[in-house]
Amino acid sequence: MTVKPDSRLLRCAGFVSEGAVAADIGTDHAYLACFLVGSGRAKRVIASDIADGPLAAARQTVEREGLGNKITVVKSDGLKDFPPELISELTDVVIAGMGGEMIAKILAEGGDRLSENVNFILEPNTRAPALRSFLAENGYQTLRETAVRDGKFVYPIINAKRTGERRSIGALESLIGKLDPREPDSKEYLKKEAARLSAAAAGMSGSQSESARKEAEELKLLAEEIGGILNDNSRSDL
Ligand SMILES: C[S@@+](CC[C@H](N)C(=O)[O-])C[C@H]1O[C@@H](n2cnc3c(N)ncnc32)[C@H](O)[C@@H]1O
Repeated sequence: MTVKPDSRLLRCAGFVSEGAVAADIGTDHAYLACFLVGSGRAKRVIASDIADGPLAAARQTVEREGLGNKITVVKSDGLKDFPPELISELTDVVIAGMGGEMIAKILAEGGDRLSENVNFILEPNTRAPALRSFLAENGYQTLRETAVRDGKFVYPIINAKRTGERRSIGALESLIGKLDPREPDSKEYLKKEAARLSAAAAGMSGSQSESARKEAEELKLLAEEIGGILNDNSRSDL
C-alpha cells in the first residue's frame, strides 16, 4: 500500500471499529478508504463523494492500489443516494474534512437510514460547535472526542453513536465538547478557542451597541471558563 494518510485522517482511522464495513463520505482521493482496507482495519469501504472530480480521483487511487474488490466508489450527496443494500451493511460512518454544519446536514438528511449501532467518526474543519449542538439535540451521544494537529491547524474528532436521547447543550459544552485538556493537541485546540473568543470579545467590547457589549461580556466569560479548565489541566465532567 503506497497511500499514507495525514495525521488527521490517521487519527480518524483509529476510531473505526476493527473489521468494519465503513462509509467514507466526502472521500475525495479515497486515501482514508484505501488506508482502512489496506491496513486491514476495515473489511470493506463505501467511498462516496458528491462531485465528479473527487470521484475520478478516488477511482484512480483505488485502482492504483488494487483495492477495487474491497472498496466501492459511489456518487452520493451525503447518504441520500446510497443504495439500501449498502446502507444496511454499514457498521461505521466517517465524515471528515467538511464544515460542521455540512456534517450536521448530512446526518439530518440521512442519519436515520442507518442502523442504531453505527459508529460515527466526525471531523469538522470549521463550525464544530454547530455540529456538537446538532448531535446533542438530535439523539447522538458523543462517546469520545480528541483533537489532532495537522500542519498549523488543530482539528477536533468526534466519535459518536445514536442513542435517541435528545438534549440541548450550553455554549461552553458546544465549544469544548468532550476534549480532554491533558491531551496535548486537545489542550492546543482549547487554547486556540479561548484566544479566539477573547479576541472577538475585545473587538466588540467598545461597540456603541449595548447588545454587542453584552455579547462581548459573554464571550469573555466563556474564554475565562476555558482558561480555568486549561489552568486546572482537568475536567470534572469527563
Ligand atoms: C476537503 S475534502 C475532504 C476529503 C477527505 N474526507 C479528508 O478529510 O481529507 C471534502 C470532500 O467532501 C465532498 N463533499 C462536500 N459535500 C458533500 C456531500 N454533501 N456529500 C458527499 N460529499 C461531499 C467534496 O466534494 C470533497 O471531495
